[in-house]
Amino acid sequence: MRASALAELGQASDGGELDAWRVKYLGRKGQLTAILRGLSSLPVEERRTVGAAANQLRGALEEQLQARTDELRNASSPKAERLDVTLPGRRGNRGGLHPVTQTIRDITDAFAAMGFQTVEGPDVEWEQYNFDALNIPPGHPARDMQDTFWLDAPESDANGSMLLKTQTSPMQIRMMEKTEPPIRIVSPGRCFRHEATDATHEWQFFQVEVLAVDEGISFADMKGTLYEFARRIFGPDRRVRFRVDFFPFVEPGAEMAIDCFRCGGDGCRTCSGSGWIEIMGAGMVHPKVLEGVGYDSEKYTGFAAGMGVERIAMLRHGIDDVRLFAAGDLRFLSQF
Ligand code: PHE
Repeated sequence: MRASALAELGQASDGGELDAWRVKYLGRKGQLTAILRGLSSLPVEERRTVGAAANQLRGALEEQLQARTDELRNASSPKAERLDVTLPGRRGNRGGLHPVTQTIRDITDAFAAMGFQTVEGPDVEWEQYNFDALNIPPGHPARDMQDTFWLDAPESDANGSMLLKTQTSPMQIRMMEKTEPPIRIVSPGRCFRHEATDATHEWQFFQVEVLAVDEGISFADMKGTLYEFARRIFGPDRRVRFRVDFFPFVEPGAEMAIDCFRCGGDGCRTCSGSGWIEIMGAGMVHPKVLEGVGYDSEKYTGFAAGMGVERIAMLRHGIDDVRLFAAGDLRFLSQF
């Protein structure tokens, strides 16, 4: 066995062959291992001599295997494994901003260019800010529509209970409480709703809130500002359409649509055949809301607007399933 093993080892010329050799002689089912395992069945007087010889052979084979391994490595390394500086480099993995983050930045940039400051609020919000101060009292149907992730607060206080905010509108209240007009802010944030998910609904999503309050702000200011925003995000040819809509914290309330940038208004899949795409809710801040934060609603007026970030991103990039944003799939994310 020693003779044949050493002869074969001399023939082995790469890692694979070395390994096969090792398995054949030294492996769990190898020839030498079989002898060592069989020792117990030998008569006592033979056991000692055979055992000693077999162990000696095992040591020798392991030693030779190491020697042959080193020999082969030394033979190959100076030539074959020498660094080839002409090979193209290996590219590192580059990170990138999430498409929602990119869209938030584009939106806030568009408003920053018109003098709006970006502010952020908490994800966990008081019932008072998320609903009551926005003219959505307990029992109002708008609560039902957003019904919602409540927290087990130890003790609810004057601000009510706590919940994960269902909209970014509570930042209107927080800002107005903290400062005096003039106010011009945009506020991006994560929102949560009790929602069955499908291609256009997620239980978590992002909104951007817009708020401007000052003396003499009119509905025309709102239209002009939001029109300019739409052109910056969806292209300079955009037309906009305002229609009556209802939100408890604005009066009058409106929904803003842009003409479809894919079909130019003829009707296609993106605009569901209507030629128009709704992109946000808006309206003049309700006098009750202004009075609630201690503003004189005869002196100050303002407008507010709110839009869904994923929806804007889906429209701009032609994404057909909102669930992709939070799925963490690099095949999707690396396209942005
Ligand atoms: N917060 C409203 C929503 O989530 C959107 C909105 C914001 C409407 C501001 C009008 C003014 O649906």
